[in-house]
Amino acid sequence: MKVLYVCAELFPFLKTGGLADVSAGLPPALRALGCDVRLLMPAFPAISSSAASTRPVASLPNGQLPWGAPPALPPADVALATLSGLDSPLYLVRSPDLYERPGSPYLGPDGHDWPDNALRFAALGWAAAWLGQGLDPDWSPDVIHCHDWHAGLAPAYVQVMAQAGRAALATVFSIHNLAYQGLFAESTFAQLGLPPNWFGIDGLEFYGQVSFMKAAIRYADRITTVSPSYAQEVLTAAHGCGLDGLLRERADLLCGILNGVDYQVWSPATDKWLAATYDADNMAPKAAAKNALQADFGLERRPGALVFGVVSRLTEQKGLHLLIHVLAELVQRGGQLAVLGQGDPSLERALIDAASRYPGQIGVRIGYSEVSAHGVIAGSDVVLMPSAFEPCGLTQLYALRYGALPLVRRVGGLADTVVDCTLENLDSGVATGFVFDVFSTDGLLSALRRAFVLFQHPDQWAAVQRQGMRLRFDWPGAAKRYLALFQSLRPDPKPRHRSPRKKG
Ligand code: ADP
Ligand code: GLC
Repeated sequence: MKVLYVCAELFPFLKTGGLADVSAGLPPALRALGCDVRLLMPAFPAISSSAASTRPVASLPNGQLPWGAPPALPPADVALATLSGLDSPLYLVRSPDLYERPGSPYLGPDGHDWPDNALRFAALGWAAAWLGQGLDPDWSPDVIHCHDWHAGLAPAYVQVMAQAGRAALATVFSIHNLAYQGLFAESTFAQLGLPPNWFGIDGLEFYGQVSFMKAAIRYADRITTVSPSYAQEVLTAAHGCGLDGLLRERADLLCGILNGVDYQVWSPATDKWLAATYDADNMAPKAAAKNALQADFGLERRPGALVFGVVSRLTEQKGLHLLIHVLAELVQRGGQLAVLGQGDPSLERALIDAASRYPGQIGVRIGYSEVSAHGVIAGSDVVLMPSAFEPCGLTQLYALRYGALPLVRRVGGLADTVVDCTLENLDSGVATGFVFDVFSTDGLLSALRRAFVLFQHPDQWAAVQRQGMRLRFDWPGAAKRYLALFQSLRPDPKPRHRSPRKKG
């Protein structure tokens, strides 16, 4: 089974969130199952500067097509590269005009989307579809696996090529976050190289704009979400971001496959970024991690303080504005808080203000740091994720492995992976964290108070830590489910002879 994995982020080279971790974890797990996986990404500087032995494959076709003009791209080609530490070969879409820019893959230095994002990511989908048509004479995929709106036009291009009599490739689209849709002005549609009548309610149009996310949901053969609960939630108006109607129409093609964790990167026993490593059978060094975190974030060195940690993009999704309202009680009860994150400037400011209001009890680091992320998760007693929605969430899975109890809202992947410390769950030994239902300050407070109560019972706390650390959310299991999905789409090479049905 040959799989082309199309994405915009890849840990450790380029990461803004969990998508990068998935792109690092899933392809090797598919390879271990015998899949021949290759990645396709834009040649962002962070990727191309790490690439070795790059070999040009072919220019991207730009001639007239049976259905009209091709996408209005500047000159672009596809090259095959290897990256140190990456087992899969990587195709790069190269176009200096589109990609050679510093900073974020999506945003300019002013914090706004790059104005030509439609073309930057159309080129990714265009390259994927042409690789499916044999652009590389040495390798072509059976399945194109596209991730998030960045790769959203690939299924549309595959479909239009098939309608024009070219090879019909199987496409799978994985939704990591329906809230980011790749919306562009109607005027960009004419530049995308799609049939003019595809701009309509049955095509890519979303309330007068072009939606890359809608294109993928409309034209992919199968759709996945990154947790089973999210697959249900996206069918509702509350979580469907306006696409729930289309998703309901295509619900029989939709399923949720829970993300895994790369335990080579996220294990407290082998973590190269911790001063002292530990495991479920040897928890004493976790106290050193807590001490290091307190020192690092300017918190008073109180071993008995209940330390809460946050490692997060600071966006509405993550529900951290609720946290601002419970800080007084958190501190008054003797708790401490360490926050590592960046994003929404007003949330950044509110957190910095809180740190200056409660010196020694709240520490905030605005920015992105892989080392600090490991330090916060290892050193915290509780990791907070009060998300409004959470397609999967990886941070709570890392917290579980590090014996930091996740405190989460019952939504999406958080609901699928954290078991609340109810009395029944504590009694039966399955509890792993604190879960609240209603997205409100009171909801968050109720869980926070329960954390303080349980912390007064060290034996029970330790039992919950051990239970979380024992769990595995492994990539091999998830990869098997993806592979089964890919296999269900592959055309049967020898159509089986169907015996005529008996009458009567
Ligand atoms: P999302 O993808 O929605 O941001 P996830 O929980 O799936 O949420 O993944 C977030 C990933 O990004 C985790 O690997 C987390 O450790 C990392 N991360 C988030 N913010 C930061 C930060 N400021 N510094 C370092 N790592 C971060
Ligand atoms: C998105 C989601 C997050 C998920 C990640 C990886 O960024 O917000 O919940 O874990 O993708 O799939």
